[in-house]
Amino acid sequence: MNRQDKYILESKTRLKYQFLRLKTGIYEVTHKKLYSIIAVTYILVALLIWVISRVNANTETADIFSLFNIVVFQLLYPLYAVAGFIVMLIMIGTPKGAKSINENLWRIGLTNHAAESPLLLRKYRQDNEFDITIMEFEPNGIPLSEWQDKQERIETALNVHIIKFEQGTSKRRILLYTVSGDEGLPKTVYWKEKYLSDEDFTLIFGYSMTGQVNINLAKIPHILLGGSTGSGKSVLLKLLIMQCIKKEADVFIADFKGGVDFLPEWHEMSYIITEENTLLEVLTELVNELENRKQVLRKYGCANIGEYNKVYANKMKRIVFACDEVAEVLDKTGLSKDAKELVTQIEGKLSIIARQGRAFGIHLILATQRPDANILTGQIRNNIDFRVCGRADNVLSQIILDNTEAADKIPKESQGLFITHDGVVFQGYLFDEKAVFVE
Ligand SMILES: Nc1ncnc2c1ncn2[C@@H]1O[C@H](COP(=O)(O)OP(=O)(O)OP(=O)(O)O)[C@@H](O)[C@H]1O
Ligand SMILES: [Mg+2]
Repeated sequence: MNRQDKYILESKTRLKYQFLRLKTGIYEVTHKKLYSIIAVTYILVALLIWVISRVNANTETADIFSLFNIVVFQLLYPLYAVAGFIVMLIMIGTPKGAKSINENLWRIGLTNHAAESPLLLRKYRQDNEFDITIMEFEPNGIPLSEWQDKQERIETALNVHIIKFEQGTSKRRILLYTVSGDEGLPKTVYWKEKYLSDEDFTLIFGYSMTGQVNINLAKIPHILLGGSTGSGKSVLLKLLIMQCIKKEADVFIADFKGGVDFLPEWHEMSYIITEENTLLEVLTELVNELENRKQVLRKYGCANIGEYNKVYANKMKRIVFACDEVAEVLDKTGLSKDAKELVTQIEGKLSIIARQGRAFGIHLILATQRPDANILTGQIRNNIDFRVCGRADNVLSQIILDNTEAADKIPKESQGLFITHDGVVFQGYLFDEKAVFVE
C-alpha cells in the first residue's frame, strides 16, 4: 500500500467514524430527554436568530452592511446552523472517555491489520439495580474470539471487570458488560418485596455481578446451603423460607434450638419442629403425602403437580421442609441404640423426599456448617442439585460444592457472600424479619 492509498484509507475511516458518531447522536437525541431538549433548544434559538436577522434586513436601507447581512445571514447562516447541528449531534454521539478507551485498546494491541483499534460507540448503564456498564463497540473487524483471548489485558487497560462479551444484533457490534475495577459486590443488599417471583416456583437468593441468582424448585427441587459459623446461612435460609411462605407453600422447619431462632411471626406462618420424635412424625406424613400425590397424578395422567394444578381446581400446594443444622440432626455419634434407630428412620424419609420429591412438589432446603462427609448420606446429598456455600474451609467447600472454590473465593470476613456449585459468587439479600410479614 503506498502513502496515498494509506491516506485515502485513513480519511475514509475517519469519515466512517464521524458517520457512526452521528448515528449514535441521533439515537441519543431521539431516546434521551436531556439530549432532545438540547436539540430542540438549538433549533429554536437558530430559528429565532434567523427571524430577527430577516426583520433587521428588511428595515434597513441598502448599504454595504445590508449586503453583508444578506451574504452572512441569508446565504451562509443556514449552512452554519445545519453544520453546527451536525457537529452537536456528533458530540452527543461521542461517549465520555471514548478517545482514551480507543487509545488504551490500541496500546494493548487489540487492533486489525490496518492497526485500527475498535471504536467505542456507546456506553450506558443496564439498569439501576446493578452497577453494570455496557460498552458498545464497532469492532473494526476484530473477531469476538480475539476479544475473549485478550480479556485480561482489556480489563487492565480499561480498569473494569468484564462480566460477559456479547455479539450485537449485527456482527458489526460487540458489547462488553463491565463493572468498575475498583468495586466488588456491595456488602449489604436489602431484599425488596418486588423481587418476589410470581413464577411457580422460583426462589431468589441474592445479587451477583451478572444479575440475580435464583432457581426454580419445579426444575431443581432441593437446596443445600453450607458455610462456617457466622457466614450467613441462617439469614439465607430464612430468606428462602420467607419466599416459600409468601408463595403459599406449606412450610415445615426443623430447629432443634427450641425454635428460638425464629420470631413468633414464623411460628404463625409455618410449622416449627423442635425435637426428633415430632420430626419423624412430620417426615412420615410428608412421605405419605408424597405417595398419595403419586396415586392422584397417576390417576389423572399428570407428570407433575405443575401440570395437575393447571388443569384441576383442587390444587396441590408445594410443601417445603427446611432444616438449619441438618448435620446436628443426623449425627449418630454417641447415641443410644434407640436414638440411632430414630435417626436412621429420619434419614430414610429424607432420602425418599430427596429422590422423589420433585414431581410431587415436596422440597428440601437444608443448611449445614459441619465439614463432615459421613453425615449427609449419598442418597440425600447426591439428589440435591443446587448447592451454595459461604465462607468455608477446604473440607466443607469440598463436601458442599465438590470443589474448594468457597475456600478460595469467599473472603474470611465476609457475611452473606456465597458461591454456587457452578461458580457464581453472590451476596444474599438481607431482610428485616419483623417488617417483611407485615402486609
Ligand atoms: N446477606 C447478608 N448481608 C449482610 N449481612 C449478613 C447477611 N447474612 C448474614 N449477615 C450478617 O451475618 C450475621 C450472621 O449470619 P447468620 O446468623 O445467618 O450466620 P450463620 O451462618 O447461620 O451462623 P451460625 O452457623 O453460627 O448459625 C448476621 O447476624 C448478619 O449480621
Ligand atoms: Mg445459623
